Amino acid sequence: MKIAVLPGDGIGTEIVAEALRVLEALDLSFETETALVGGAAYEAHGHPLPESTLKLAKEADAVLFGAVGDWKYDKLERSLRPEQAILGLRKNLGLFANFRPAICYEQLVDASSLKPELIAGLDILIIRELTGDIYFGQPRGRRTAVDGHFPGAEEAFDTMRYSRPEVERIAHVAFQAARKRSKRVTSVDKANVLETFQFWKDIVTEVGKEYPDVELDHMYVDNAAMQLVKAPKKFDVVVTGNMFGDILSDEAAMLTGSIGMLPSASLNSSNQGLYEPSHGSAPDIAGKGIANPLATILSAAMMLRFSLNQPEAADRIESAVKHVLAQGLRTADIWSAGTTKVGTREMGDAVVAAITKKTITG
Ligand code: IPM
Ligand code: MG
Repeated sequence: MKIAVLPGDGIGTEIVAEALRVLEALDLSFETETALVGGAAYEAHGHPLPESTLKLAKEADAVLFGAVGDWKYDKLERSLRPEQAILGLRKNLGLFANFRPAICYEQLVDASSLKPELIAGLDILIIRELTGDIYFGQPRGRRTAVDGHFPGAEEAFDTMRYSRPEVERIAHVAFQAARKRSKRVTSVDKANVLETFQFWKDIVTEVGKEYPDVELDHMYVDNAAMQLVKAPKKFDVVVTGNMFGDILSDEAAMLTGSIGMLPSASLNSSNQGLYEPSHGSAPDIAGKGIANPLATILSAAMMLRFSLNQPEAADRIESAVKHVLAQGLRTADIWSAGTTKVGTREMGDAVVAAITKKTITG
């Protein structure tokens, strides 16, 4: 088994280092190879996703990814910005299915901005289509308007589009995931306004007929944004397009207390996957040793479960995380009075300790 390790920028290097220490503590046999990506790769090779990094990612069984981006690259032309690395990996590896579970750990109910009773026991799974939609649709660009409200004016445009097979395959992923949970899927769309999402809704409905045991409902994205903060526990699996999924998954992350807790998996049709925290590179706190490594550590657990066929090892990581939270250890983003504030490294140490202790006592 080979894991391509792409720490990236900002806090990416700090949090990936902790996830690797946790993986090593499990005593599994795998090989890792590290490469530059994002701004770090741009500095060294003039491109955020160098050929060598892409090749390594393609050949690996799984990619463990940190985060990319820094404000200092905002002025670069789009194709050279750090974000293009993650978009390029998703596209080139065909990672169309993005799993973003939002679980509220019992110990963190008070870290959420919502009332504890609204989020205690929360366990929702957002499935975001990741290689289509307005993110990748062509054409896009700038031009002179020939019609619209201001003919002759400068304008910019993107293309929202989905093909039938793209919607069908993500719908199957959602229904199959729901079968392993509470058997409910909410498909989020904007069918009341957008042709693309009427098409999406029609196809999800069709695919749903193959899963009579799974309950399907549809919700407009604006209402979904509202319901997520009003009654989040009503959701089980949420399936949606690339852009709505981007927005709703940040919102769902915050329900759990901190985006620093939210892992993600992005899979292609052969279960090769990229695993990354749902949060970004947080340049404001980079290098300070205070970032929360748990989202990345939990992403490593998802990697063991989905791509490396090591479900027991994944369970061990997840119980170790629960254990350190129960011990009262908190990074700054999830700290509250009465708990112990720790840094990135100490949090990693605590997870490693919980894992090794479990090994000794069986
Ligand atoms: C995410 C991020 C990315 C996205 C950015 C960094 C391109 O926000 O993974 O949610 O928009 O998909
Ligand atoms: Mg996002």
